[in-house]
Amino acid sequence: MFTSWEELRENCMNCSKCELAGGRHNIVFGVGDPNAEVMFIGEGPGEQEDLTGEPFVGRAGKLLDKMLAVVDLDRTKNIYIANIVKCRPPKNRDPKPEEQELCINWLRNQTKLIRPKIIVCLGRIAAAKIIKPDIKITKEHGIFFERNGTLLMATLHPAALLRNPNNKPAAMEDYFKLRDKITEICSHTYSERPL
Ligand code: URA
Repeated sequence: MFTSWEELRENCMNCSKCELAGGRHNIVFGVGDPNAEVMFIGEGPGEQEDLTGEPFVGRAGKLLDKMLAVVDLDRTKNIYIANIVKCRPPKNRDPKPEEQELCINWLRNQTKLIRPKIIVCLGRIAAAKIIKPDIKITKEHGIFFERNGTLLMATLHPAALLRNPNNKPAAMEDYFKLRDKITEICSHTYSERPL
């Protein structure tokens, strides 16, 4: 456990704990406000993320940014975004359980430093790792689970919404529930909004 953000980042950026390290162009550490009250967690970098070093910058990321904007959330202002694994799995396959296990401590350390009030898991892989292994995302998205004072919620992965746009309204409902919960329990998230 690193107690400083700089130390954590520097150590993470030199990680070679699993075979994904061999194929990467960049480690995708995370982006956003390290003091955010709301954190979003995806599965792992895709091609564009691997090339740029930033999470969710491809097509799925553009959709994510749009949905976030509807509820006044913005990666440059009031949230933090990271992934379960920090290096791109080849051909965008699911990260293997052992890769997730070897990588998760970076995310745990990020979460300990950020101390978010709410964590939103984007898609099944993140939800299974963080909320519960047998989560049924189609049934349990939008539900808040409480663990040690932190609220955890899963929503559909934006890449799944690109494949199946019919699910967009249901997913958007999750973001509205999130907005309401932020208004209820978070003090700073919306405080810089212009009047
Ligand atoms: N999908 C993810 O789960 N994470 C990213 O960073 C990009 C796409």
